[in-house]
Amino acid sequence: MSGTLTMAARPTTPAALTESPPDEAPESVVTDLLTRPLVLVGLMGAGKSSIGRRLAQRFGVAFADADTEIEKAAGRSIPEIFEAFGEEEFRNGERRVIRRLIESGGPRILATGGGAFMAEDTRSLIRERATSLWLKADFETLFERVSKRSNRPLLKTADPQATLRELMRKRYPVYGEADIVVETRRVPIEETVDKVYHAVLDHFEREAASSR
Ligand code: S3P
Repeated sequence: MSGTLTMAARPTTPAALTESPPDEAPESVVTDLLTRPLVLVGLMGAGKSSIGRRLAQRFGVAFADADTEIEKAAGRSIPEIFEAFGEEEFRNGERRVIRRLIESGGPRILATGGGAFMAEDTRSLIRERATSLWLKADFETLFERVSKRSNRPLLKTADPQATLRELMRKRYPVYGEADIVVETRRVPIEETVDKVYHAVLDHFEREAASSR
């Protein structure tokens, strides 16, 4: 590690609270989503950002991608942050940015980087202040997706397949603590968005029923 990662304190744009929700989202569910952010967790390549963005459009709420926010705050890309400061500093920045995004009352749907939920303090913050959703993908789906891009420093190893399997082994039990789990496969993205959308509605409906 060769320095400390400083990040500008950038307030997040407030959630699009004034946007009216689409017809298909029952008002009570949208209200629940607006009071607690929905945090997407899961391994690299699970589709957290692309699904999160589409899901936010469908619910009519604001979206943020924690990795993008980290990059904006640091003024560098994720690979550059790893290169210049090391993983530990990246993780510190990641924790700070996610805390700010959740505590600011900003985005209602938040995609996080694959390692974020592994930090105990981030996990307990999410448990207290948000609803977590694990996008659970199989090895083939993940590897096909991550192979298309070279922007994942953790996979720059001699055997990226073995590294990915090892990350699955270590992380899946922890991701399993998420409030909602949705299995994803190689199907058209809108199909997965639909599946996630209904899983979220079911979750909030069950919560509402159990508190009645
Ligand atoms: C990481 C996942 C990446 C990014 C960083 C570390 C991880 O995000 O935060 O490269 O530890 O799994 P994505 O999951 O969005 O690829």
